[in-house]
Amino acid sequence: MKGLSVNTRGLSKIYGQGRTAVRALEDVNLKIDAGEFIAAMGPSGSGKTTLLNLVGALDRPSAGEVRIGEVEITELTERSLHLVRRHQVGFIFQAFFLVPTLSARENVLLPTLPVGNTTAYERRADELLRLVGLNGRAHRRPSELSAGEQQRVAIARALIMDPGLILGDEPTGNLDSRTGGEVLQLLQRLSQEMGKTFLVATHDPRIARRSDRIVYLRDGQLSPVPTVDITGEY
Ligand SMILES: Nc1ncnc2c1ncn2[C@@H]1O[C@H](COP(=O)(O)OP(=O)(O)O)[C@@H](O)[C@H]1O
Ligand SMILES: [Mg+2]
Repeated sequence: MKGLSVNTRGLSKIYGQGRTAVRALEDVNLKIDAGEFIAAMGPSGSGKTTLLNLVGALDRPSAGEVRIGEVEITELTERSLHLVRRHQVGFIFQAFFLVPTLSARENVLLPTLPVGNTTAYERRADELLRLVGLNGRAHRRPSELSAGEQQRVAIARALIMDPGLILGDEPTGNLDSRTGGEVLQLLQRLSQEMGKTFLVATHDPRIARRSDRIVYLRDGQLSPVPTVDITGEY
């Protein structure tokens, strides 16, 4: 699937209620074109994860709308949201979330289990493992792989269903600088080669510098990008 556009309108999220309510996201209007590579930046607690979770239909907004491609996902039933999450969105997390008892290849294939069509997906899994540079490591378990290799497995897993939108929540946050840089290069190469849309929350100025655009959050609201972020002093 080619890249999907993302549009949010008045997107807001409040966790809890009453005196303990946290306004995590407030009136966010974000427009991402199909195929763009966007870095979402901002201090800890500024709402990056909340934004990704709402855009990826992992959570429901308190107010506002999210459109992925032509589909207004805030109107969908749980059942349809399931399908959106499975087929249109790929997630990459800081903590990889691989299943420790499964091989790299089996981890990549995990999202396809409910769908069947095994042979075609196995071929695709092998292709993706090659694409992320894990040729020859397909049968290793996560514990037999380096952190960078584990994140590459997670990236291949995020791509197995051929989604149009890839969401990354600090995907290099658990990696040392060099490995993080390599993973980041991989993400950007994939974005260019596959034409998919990427929205990546990060503190890494290298991701920011090499992305098409930075969106900056401060206290749950979109805000102009401070220049220190781009120069890498953040
Ligand atoms: N499940 C939750 N319940 C209550 N508050 C939350 C929850 N998740 C996040 N928050 C709060 O919402 C704000 C935004 O958090 P988050 O989206 O995780 O920011 P970031 O990813 O930029 O660090 C923070 O104040 C955080 O403490
Ligand atoms: Mg976060």
